[in-house]
Amino acid sequence: MAERITKNMAKNIYFGGGVFAILVFVGLTFDTVQQIPKLSHEEKLTESVALGKKVWEDNDCIGCHTLLGEGAYYAPELGNVFERIAGGDEKVFKTYLLGWMAAQPLDTPNRRKMPQFHLSPVQINNLADFLIWSSRVNNQEWPPNTQG
Ligand code: HEC
Repeated sequence: MAERITKNMAKNIYFGGGVFAILVFVGLTFDTVQQIPKLSHEEKLTESVALGKKVWEDNDCIGCHTLLGEGAYYAPELGNVFERIAGGDEKVFKTYLLGWMAAQPLDTPNRRKMPQFHLSPVQINNLADFLIWSSRVNNQEWPPNTQG
C-alpha cells in the first residue's frame, strides 16, 4: 500500500533526522564557543583578575557562595555583589571588600557566619578585581534573580 511507511523510509527518516540534529548541535556549539571571548570580555582579563581567581579557589569561597549561579547555596551570590553593594563603583567596592573581609566573622546573632581568611590587602584587591570582572561577564541574564 502506497500510504504505508516502509522499513526503508523509516530508516531514512531515522538516520537523516539523526545526522541533521547532530549537524545543528555541532553548528550551535561552534557558534557559542566562538562568542565566549566577547561575552566574557576576554580583553579585560588582567593579571590581577587571574590572581584573584586563584585566591578565590585556594580559599574555597565557592564552598559557601554561588558565582553566576554556580556553587553552594549557603551564602549570597557574588557574581552581582559589585553592582548590589557598590552600584558599579570600583573604588567603593574595593574599600567595602577590605572592610568586609577584615570584619569577619561578624558577631551577629541568628545569622550565618563567614570565616576570617587572614588575606593580605593585595589579595583582597585581586579578589575585588576578579569579582568586578565576573560581574561584567555577559551571562545573558543568568542567574534570573539576585540570590543566584
Ligand atoms: C564557610 C562559608 C563561607 C565561605 C567559605 C566564604 N563565605 Fe563569604 N559569606 C558567608 C556568609 C554566611 C555570608 C553572609 C554573612 C552575613 O550576611 O552576615 C557571606 C557574605 C559574603 C560577602 C557579602 C555578600 C553580600 O551580599 O552582602 C562577601 C563579599 C563575601 N562573603 C566574600 C567571600 C569571599 C571572597 C570568600 C572567599 C575568600 C568567602 N566569602 C568565603 C559564608 C562564607
